[in-house]
Amino acid sequence: MRSVVLLSLLVVVQKTPVGLGLVVSGPSSARAEKRTASLTVPVELGERGYPIYIGPGLLEAGAWCSHISGRRVGVVTNEVVGPLYLSACVAALEGAGKEVVSLVLPDGEEHKSMKQLERTLDFALESKLDRASCLVALGGGVIGDLVGFAAAVYQRGVDFVQIPTTLMAMVDSSVGGKTAVNHPRGKNMIGAFYQPICVVADVSLLDTLPDREFNSGLSEVIKYGLIRDAGFFEWQEANVGALVARDPSAVAHAVEQSCRNKAAVVAEDEREAGVRATLNLGHTFGHAVETCSGYGTYLHGEAVAIGTAMAADMSRRLGWIDEALERRAVDLLRAARLPTSAPRKMTPADFLDIMAHDKKVKDGQLRLILLKGELGSCVFTPDFDTAKLQETLHAFTTTTAALE
Ligand SMILES: NC(=O)c1ccc[n+]([C@@H]2O[C@H](COP(=O)([O-])OP(=O)(O)OC[C@H]3O[C@@H](n4cnc5c(N)ncnc54)[C@H](O)[C@@H]3O)[C@@H](O)[C@H]2O)c1
Ligand SMILES: [Zn+2]
Repeated sequence: MRSVVLLSLLVVVQKTPVGLGLVVSGPSSARAEKRTASLTVPVELGERGYPIYIGPGLLEAGAWCSHISGRRVGVVTNEVVGPLYLSACVAALEGAGKEVVSLVLPDGEEHKSMKQLERTLDFALESKLDRASCLVALGGGVIGDLVGFAAAVYQRGVDFVQIPTTLMAMVDSSVGGKTAVNHPRGKNMIGAFYQPICVVADVSLLDTLPDREFNSGLSEVIKYGLIRDAGFFEWQEANVGALVARDPSAVAHAVEQSCRNKAAVVAEDEREAGVRATLNLGHTFGHAVETCSGYGTYLHGEAVAIGTAMAADMSRRLGWIDEALERRAVDLLRAARLPTSAPRKMTPADFLDIMAHDKKVKDGQLRLILLKGELGSCVFTPDFDTAKLQETLHAFTTTTAALE
């Protein structure tokens, strides 16, 4: 079922004058040129491995459809993304000879639910999708996580393609095979590890993404630099202006480098036995912010940015990083227009209560991802001085932020 078909579009590859990204020249018209600019990041997972295609115009160019071996395809999107991109997606699939059915779900994290999962499975059954059929997730992380999980359980697993449409989904959620829906008692509590057959990160789809959503995705981009890629962090410091201005080659480079980092971590630790947990830098604190404020007040990446500032603060209090590195982390988050202060109404007890239920708690012990050593190094550990955690929680709840 899992055909490995390489895109055979690239004709001439050359560095752009500014040295960012790739310019790929194909057929002569400007439109065709736009459509053929792409690069590929492989996710090396043996027989579950797959390519991530990155570039503008990929959705409508349609080369990705060659990965789909079955004839019938179910595209699932939401009511915001559907009107923008569903017809281009269906046209690409039909152009490749596929028989396409589609489902439009309501928008929002609150719909990453058992109810919408059931609706998706009903749709698949009513549309008579069989085991050779493929599901396509066209949307942000909510659609990607939900449709991925539906693909994992429908008839014990059918192929699925991720077409991420937010920066968050392009740099993080569409890669690595974590799929899930939320339960009223906890986020992502029902899910599976299930890899797609390919990821199509068409960066032109970001043109319609609101700035706040775009900046939220930058939080995860910054994370890769802090936890494992000092060179990428330095590149971001130099290019954050271009990123927030959405310079196309800067954005494509950020997506590419983020996917390379994520793919490397996933290849090393697909099921999060160890190093993959470090991708959750800032998420334990951030999750407390999201939960306490009510989902929707802060976007995921905004809450993670606050959490990252808190993790950097605690790492510095522990003496694991110097103040200059903490400052650089906070400055970059702020330059990406992300928040770095906890909500005023939160107390240390609020944080501790919610953090006690984190998925990374093991045998009653809280484990945190903290920065340690030079830029680009971190640890995932239960072994820290809890007095420093208290100090961080007090600093972030009694003043606007530890670092002003
Ligand atoms: N599986 C993973 O490894 C992983 C990693 C990170 C986050 N996540 C999950 O991802 C979700 C957050 O993802 P998200 O930030 O993409 O949120 P989202 O899917 O809710 O998308 C954000 C908003 O942007 C809209 N939108 C999407 N694409 C658009 C476009 N091109 N133009 C205009 N509007 C567009 C959406 O309809 C939505 O309103 C959370 O549920 C989180 O748990 C999963
Ligand atoms: Zn995240």
